[in-house]
Amino acid sequence: MIRNIKFRLNGKDQNLELREEALVLDWLRNIAGLKGTKEGCREGDCGACLALLGGQAPDGSMEWRSVTTCTLAMGELENRHLVTIEGLASAGLTPVMEAMLDEGASQCGFCSPGFVLALTGYLVSGAKMDPVEAMLAVEGNLCRCTGYGSIRRAAKRLAEDFSDLPFGLKERFSVLADRKVLPKALADSMADSKADMPGGSVHKSGQTASMQNGSIVLGGGTDYFVQNPDPEPGLAPSFSDQDPASRRIKEKVLGGKTWICLGRAVTESDFFASNIIKKALPGMERYEVLVASPPIRNRATLAGNIVNASPIADMSAMLIALGAELEISSKDASRSLPIENIFLGYKKLDLKPGEYINEIRFPADWSRFAFEKVSKREHLDIATVNVAIAVKMGADGCIAEVRCSAGGVAAIPLRLKNAEALLTGAKPSLDLAKKLGAVYAESGSPMSDVRGSSVYRKRLLERLAWAACIRLWPELKLEEEIMA
Ligand SMILES: Cc1cc2nc3c(=O)[nH]c(=O)nc-3n(C[C@H](O)[C@H](O)[C@H](O)COP(=O)(O)OP(=O)(O)OC[C@H]3O[C@@H](n4cnc5c(N)ncnc54)[C@H](O)[C@@H]3O)c2cc1C
Ligand code: FES
Ligand code: FES
Repeated sequence: MIRNIKFRLNGKDQNLELREEALVLDWLRNIAGLKGTKEGCREGDCGACLALLGGQAPDGSMEWRSVTTCTLAMGELENRHLVTIEGLASAGLTPVMEAMLDEGASQCGFCSPGFVLALTGYLVSGAKMDPVEAMLAVEGNLCRCTGYGSIRRAAKRLAEDFSDLPFGLKERFSVLADRKVLPKALADSMADSKADMPGGSVHKSGQTASMQNGSIVLGGGTDYFVQNPDPEPGLAPSFSDQDPASRRIKEKVLGGKTWICLGRAVTESDFFASNIIKKALPGMERYEVLVASPPIRNRATLAGNIVNASPIADMSAMLIALGAELEISSKDASRSLPIENIFLGYKKLDLKPGEYINEIRFPADWSRFAFEKVSKREHLDIATVNVAIAVKMGADGCIAEVRCSAGGVAAIPLRLKNAEALLTGAKPSLDLAKKLGAVYAESGSPMSDVRGSSVYRKRLLERLAWAACIRLWPELKLEEEIMA
C-alpha cells in the first residue's frame, strides 16, 4: 500500500510516498539509484545487500544492526535510519575498506560492499573487539572469488586496530568519526537521539493499535520475503516491531510461578543477548551461532519462526522443550495455547484470520537445557534434524520434570512425550542416555529428502539425544563411554 514514510537515509531526512511492502533493496537500486547495495541471492543468504539500520532499542537507547535489505520492507524504515555503502564512502576510503584492499580481500568486488557494511556494523555495535567476533560478524556474507583467508586477515586487523573503542554510543561514534570509519556528518547523525528522527519521535505505543488492521502481520520478513520475493502491490502489513516495547523480554509472576515473557517482536539476537535469558538458561548463548547469521538474527522474530511452521524451525524446537505458552490475540480477545498445540499439520496452524502471537512465555525455573542440530553446512543452514531437552533436577539427583522436542522428523516440530516419560523420575546415567537415544530414534516418521534419508535422520536423532545428555550432565562424563 502506498503511504507516507519518514525516515533517514545516509544522514539525510526523507519524507516520501512509498509502497510500504516493497523491498528496500529494490527501492535503493531502482528508485534511489544507490547501486552499491548489490542483489545476490535475494533470499537473505549472501549478504551482498547489507545495510545498517538504526532505531530505538527496547530500552529506549539508539541501536545499530546489520540487515539484509532483500528481506526488509520499506515500511520498516519508518522513523529509522538506513546507512548504505554510499553513506560510508561519501568521504573516501574508510579504514575498513583500506583493510580489505591491503589484505587483498576483494577481487571482482561484488560482495565487498556487504563485507564492508558487516565489518563497519561490528565496529559500530559496541561488541567485544576480537578476531573471532569480527569473523562472526561476516558469517552472513559470501564471497565467491577471493577466498576467505584475506577477509579473515582484514577482520583480524580491524579488531586489533580498534581494540580500544569506547562502549558508550556518543564516545564511540566520536572516535569512529575521528578515525574516519564514518564520515563526520554521518557519525553525528547516526549517534543522534531518536527524538530528532524525521518522524519527530519514535513510535508511540498507541500506534500499535494498527496491529489488527493490516492484511498480514510481519515480523522480520526473513521467511515471508524469501517466499514472496516480489510482494504484491497493495499488501498492507502490520509490522510487529513498530513499538519498541514489543521487543522486551521480562520476568513475570503468573499463577504463583515466574515466567520469562517475550514480546511478539523479540528477535533471535534479542533473545540470545538477553541477560534474563542468560541468567535463567546459562550457556544458552552457545546455540546462537547454530541459528542463521547475524543480519538474519537481527530481524528474525521468534513469533515468525513459530508461524512459519517449518518442521525444522530451531526456535520452535527450543520453545517446545522450554514448555512455552503462546498468548494469541485478536482485535477482541486473547487466548493462551501450549506451543505444541499450534501445529496442526504441515504448515497448518491453530491461528484464525485476525489472530497474531502477542507474547511467548515459558517457565523460568529449568535447571538445564540442551539444543543440538545437524545441518548440511555447519553454520548458516537450516537443520536436517534438531533436538532440544529442558530438565528440572530434584534434590535427590533424579529428573523431577523434563520436556523433549525434535524437528525434521515429522510434518510439524514434535514434543516427545515418550522420551519425557522415560526420563521423568530417573537418575541420569549412561544406560538412561542410551535408552533415550533409542526412544528418540523411533520418534516421528522421518522422510527422505535432499537433506538426508529417513535412516540417516533416525540415526541422527539417536546421536543428537546422546549429545544432549552429554551437555545436560557434564559431571557424568558420558562422552568417554557413550561411543564405546
Ligand atoms: C538466510 C536465512 C537463514 C535462516 N536460518 C535459519 C535457521 O538456522 N534456523 C531457523 O529456524 N530458521 C532460519 N531461517 C528462517 C527465518 O529466519 C526464521 O524462521 C525466522 O524466525 C522468521 O521470523 P521473521 O520474524 O523473519 O518472520 P516473517 O518472515 O516476518 O514471518 C513469517 C510468518 O510468520 C507470520 N508472523 C510473523 N510474526 C507474527 C506474529 N507475531 N503473529 C502471527 N503471525 C506472525 C508472518 O505473517 C509470516 O507468515 C533462515 C532464514 C534465512 C533467510
Ligand atoms: S541479496 Fe543475498 S542476502 Fe540479500
Ligand atoms: S570479490 Fe568476487 S564475490 Fe567476493
